[in-house]
Amino acid sequence: MKTTTFLSALAASAIVSATPTKTDKQPPSKRATVPTVTASGNAFWTGKDRFYIRGIDYQPGGSSGETDPLADTTHCLRDVEKFKKLGVNTVRVYMVDNSQDHDECMTALADAGIYLVLDVNTPKYSINRADPYLSYNGAYLQNIFATIDMFAKYDNVLAFFSGNEVINEEPGTTVSAPYVKAVTRDMRNYIKARKYRQIPVGYSAADVAENRMQTAHYFNCGPDEVRSDFFAFNDYSWCTSDFVTSGWDKKVQNFTDYGLPIFLSEYGCIENTRDFGEIKALMSSDMTGVYSGGLMYEYTMEKNGYGIVQIKGETATELKPEFDNLSKAMKANPAPTGSGGASATSAAVECPTQDSVWEVDPDILPEIPAEAQAYMDKGAGTGVGFKGTGSQTAGDSGLSTSNSTSAASSSGSKGDDSAAGRSGISAVAVTGGALAATLFGAFLL
Ligand SMILES: *[C@@H]1O[C@H](CO)[C@@H](O)[C@H](O)[C@H]1NC(C)=O
Ligand SMILES: *[C@@H]1O[C@H](CO)[C@@H](O)[C@H](O)[C@H]1NC(C)=O
Ligand SMILES: *[C@@H]1O[C@H](CO)[C@@H](O)[C@H](O)[C@H]1NC(C)=O
Repeated sequence: MKTTTFLSALAASAIVSATPTKTDKQPPSKRATVPTVTASGNAFWTGKDRFYIRGIDYQPGGSSGETDPLADTTHCLRDVEKFKKLGVNTVRVYMVDNSQDHDECMTALADAGIYLVLDVNTPKYSINRADPYLSYNGAYLQNIFATIDMFAKYDNVLAFFSGNEVINEEPGTTVSAPYVKAVTRDMRNYIKARKYRQIPVGYSAADVAENRMQTAHYFNCGPDEVRSDFFAFNDYSWCTSDFVTSGWDKKVQNFTDYGLPIFLSEYGCIENTRDFGEIKALMSSDMTGVYSGGLMYEYTMEKNGYGIVQIKGETATELKPEFDNLSKAMKANPAPTGSGGASATSAAVECPTQDSVWEVDPDILPEIPAEAQAYMDKGAGTGVGFKGTGSQTAGDSGLSTSNSTSAASSSGSKGDDSAAGRSGISAVAVTGGALAATLFGAFLL
């Protein structure tokens, strides 16, 4: 089916100059089969319609190995059929090899109406929480910018993750937060400088109660240039329970007025049986005003036991009843129509105060290394992919030589002009957003 479509598209473009016909199709990477998703207010949108992430985490082999599920066409096409059966509209992929081609898989996903949330980091090209200063260097930024170059052309790229669980429950890991925030800023600047579509960029936080709120606030505080486009966190507190028992009611309360789209980058506790009642809650008015859905962890069965499909060789076997339970939960709880109570305006929040849990000076952010700044104008060039030697100790590729001290917390209203601007919403809405944000900013003072 989708394979045939793709092959015929290729065939059509190959003969296009010889015998042009009305039915000629564009090459895969140029075809716009899905509307692009924008972040605006505290939600995602396709045009005027609210967009909810009804997704699944997709990383066969687990996130510690190096595999690129989007470069493996045969297995991708097999899995897309399962995604369609599940009724998901988004997959999250934890790493890709930016030296490989992804056209066929990305096209198959788009043809199925499925979006991608992509982690730009790989195990060897990422911020090292043990030495964030050294790992925030030119070689690292070159490689993640090359990943952006490769994926920005696909309309079904929903968002990029600038980091995944860099800050965790270990003492001392919060000192890496300014570097991840700098990376988020740099990615957003790169997307702007290269004149790509304004693909949302944000961080995916670990399921750590002790610093969840600080992390969320930190990524949405300060001038607009340093704020994320959304925030996501992993949450395993719903163990076949309900909205109140799981504590999700508190997580709605705590994030009300957060000011940016929020979603769960991983959910799906396995302590009890799995009926995926999470989806009913996520799609209900209890949550839609604050949350934009989530991603069930995960598709393939790995050593940690969260999968709903067993991969053996070429075969993907549905695990029962989990696979059917997820598919049923998706069907029984469609995305609600209307705005779902989303806020039309985005806003900054106050930076978390520096203390023994959150060891971060809110006013200091590392400036981009000069070597990486150069990519803004000339482009990053080709990515090194999984074969690269790694960037974490590549200090000689260029390090940050100064700190910005203008990352203070008091400019919420300024931020909102451009937050609304990047979403491409109408001029009227922009004005309204800026006004409301000014009022909100005044409340903070
Ligand atoms: C809600 O926020 C408060 C204050 O930051 C925090 O102490 C509490 O742990 C949060 N609760 C949840 C469930 O996130
Ligand atoms: C599947 O869902 C049903 C309810 O729809 C539930 O009774 C059953 O326990 C679930 N199975 C597993 C293994 O979680
Ligand atoms: C930037 O600030 C951090 C944290 O205070 C500090 O460790 C680092 O040395 C500073 N970097 C420069 C280049 O001044």
